[in-house]
Amino acid sequence: MPRPRLTASPPNRNRPPGLGRAGAGLAALLLLAPAAFAQAPPSEDERVERILGGLSLAERIGQLDLVANSPSFSRDRIAAGAAGGVLAFTNGRDIADVQALARRAPSGIPLLVGLDVLHGLRTQYPLPLGEAASFDPDLAREVARAAAREAAAIGINWTFAPMADLARDPRWGRMVEGFGEDPHLGAAFTAARVRGFREGGLAVTLKHFAGYGAAIGGRDYDSASIGPGELVDAYLPPFAAGIGAGAESVMSAFHALDRVPATASRFLLTDTLRGRLGFSGFVVSDWLAIDQLRDHGVAATGAEAARLALAAGVDMDMASGLYAKHLPDEIAAGRVPEAAVAEAARRIVRTKLRMGLFEAPTSPPVLDAPPPPSPNDRALARRAAAESMVLLRNEGALPLAPGRRIALVGGIAADAKELVGPHAALVRYEDGVSILEGLRRRAESAGASLSFSPGCDVGCGSDAGFAAAVATAEAADVVVAVMGEPLELTGEAASRAYLTLPGRQAELLDRLVGAGKPVVLVLVASRPVELGRVVDRLAGLLMAWFPGTEGGNAVADLLFGDVSPSARLPVTWPRTIGQVPLFYDRLPTGRPPDPRNRFTLRYVDEEFTPLFPFGFGLGYGRVAYGPVRIDDPVVPRGGSAVVRATVSNVGPRPVSEVVQLYVRQPVARISRPLRQLKSFRKVVLAPGETASVALALPADALAYTDGTGARVLEPGRYEIFVGGASDAPLAGTIELQP
Ligand code: BGC
Repeated sequence: MPRPRLTASPPNRNRPPGLGRAGAGLAALLLLAPAAFAQAPPSEDERVERILGGLSLAERIGQLDLVANSPSFSRDRIAAGAAGGVLAFTNGRDIADVQALARRAPSGIPLLVGLDVLHGLRTQYPLPLGEAASFDPDLAREVARAAAREAAAIGINWTFAPMADLARDPRWGRMVEGFGEDPHLGAAFTAARVRGFREGGLAVTLKHFAGYGAAIGGRDYDSASIGPGELVDAYLPPFAAGIGAGAESVMSAFHALDRVPATASRFLLTDTLRGRLGFSGFVVSDWLAIDQLRDHGVAATGAEAARLALAAGVDMDMASGLYAKHLPDEIAAGRVPEAAVAEAARRIVRTKLRMGLFEAPTSPPVLDAPPPPSPNDRALARRAAAESMVLLRNEGALPLAPGRRIALVGGIAADAKELVGPHAALVRYEDGVSILEGLRRRAESAGASLSFSPGCDVGCGSDAGFAAAVATAEAADVVVAVMGEPLELTGEAASRAYLTLPGRQAELLDRLVGAGKPVVLVLVASRPVELGRVVDRLAGLLMAWFPGTEGGNAVADLLFGDVSPSARLPVTWPRTIGQVPLFYDRLPTGRPPDPRNRFTLRYVDEEFTPLFPFGFGLGYGRVAYGPVRIDDPVVPRGGSAVVRATVSNVGPRPVSEVVQLYVRQPVARISRPLRQLKSFRKVVLAPGETASVALALPADALAYTDGTGARVLEPGRYEIFVGGASDAPLAGTIELQP
């Protein structure tokens, strides 16, 4: 068998001692400055080619390898320049060590140092789904910036976030890692997070390309089928927005889309990602996903899997080591073109160059570990948490009146760990403020008394503590019950077949409600929870998602009315699991729901409507919508309509309102969704204040993708709905000119 030709281009032997070739290239440029005075500085492409030209084939293949920190991790590989990046390093000293090794290697190319920095490093902010509920992308950007700074301070330079996957099935545990069911909202938040992470010093990864959230049955890793128009119009906009915001990398997904595993899909990773969306960064596989092509049944051997992934467009191999192991032989045998490796290495090197890694000092000073959250971090985490929690029901119990006797029940209430959620990076649970702690502190200053009786522990397997909890409830004026999903039921590999409260929590809730005192339920969960009939008997319902380090204080801020709830649902809340997937931007049907007619779209044993619609959420004030004006309702192609809503705070307290604009094209060549969110704006209104909120609606936003993948923008009439949720009333129409 012929040996691989390991040297594509002769390495540059003229580097100064101690500097790798890439560093040498840079130093040479600086040293040569006087002679080259009259010449323009080298372009980015020239610099990339110069670096690439100095690499052997083995070193180029090394750039394609993302090596995980594990017991078998070999420093020698890094010292030999045989890795492009590392992941799962969590200590600044170790990161500085591997980074220095890489820089001293003959190739001298700095490493990408990746980690899942999703909603914080040490300081934990709300999980992305909760963040999306804020309908405040500027806040998300600020949070991402803060999280990135914490991570960059210990030497991490690349995050595997944000997750741009649309999620319409709450059985899927990863719904919480993304921004919910809506393409427009998802796009706004994906772009905001990309900007924030980058401003904080991290390169970002949009994941998981594409359609991973559409796994059938909500089962993580299962396959998905998505029509071509729906893929482009629903699933791709968040990715497109993230690319527009400067995302450096995209992660391929684990699942098979339309029968082709995403990690082997040239259609997805090259035609769609690069061709349609114009992405020019690099693609990284998901964890061991290249190796898993064998399990998918599209590759018989590791070598074949490596070949398929590279040909599809995966530039970097996360953790499987198959590129490093097989590409030399595959190239030697002529089964993989050397140019394909060069191109992948080029994309990775270019990213590193753009990130400024070559300019950074040889050993940038880094902290070993992130310090405890500063007062500023805490203030931001508290604000973000309070802005993420959705008030879904309030029968007058909230805000809690001063001087009341409050019974606090629920195992989750005492456990700050349960507020943090999955992918908590370098969390230190002792930093967190539990709901018990937050409420206790605030109750004292409100002159209220607080008695805590958990009822059961977090898993709630036993009813031994129920009687005591009920007795505490009976002795109080109001009950705050904190219930939800234990951490292990959420995130990756946490698909659920039930959406009910786990363990015996529902039983406890029933008993509390039966005690006759008003019960406010605070839900700590990653997705909508099926509550059943008890919901009608609750005095209040607050969805807190996973609110992070300052979660307990934020719950107190909202329950005591220091802050008016301002979040809105980023997902439709079903009544029962049998309704899922249920999302608001569905298509019309020839037999629209009619409760009097059996032969229409409905269930025979349950309402057709959700429990709470997308975009819904209450505040403590009262908001009234006045007339909506549409400037220039005849819109030319390439033009834009401006929709002006008048919103007044007619209550006695300051409020935030999320003004939402939905569109429908009532007659088109194909069925168009009944509603589509196209614009939103969060406004703060003082008591008595009226604001005119202008929402822009570009004609382009009315386009759709047909079954052939073509973009279509049809002239004609479009209906505009404006209000505080996805069931907003019709506000007018616009006419798009031919
Ligand atoms: C997940 C990715 C994550 C990666 C690295 C995988 O299991 O699917 O989202 O970035 O692990 O931690």
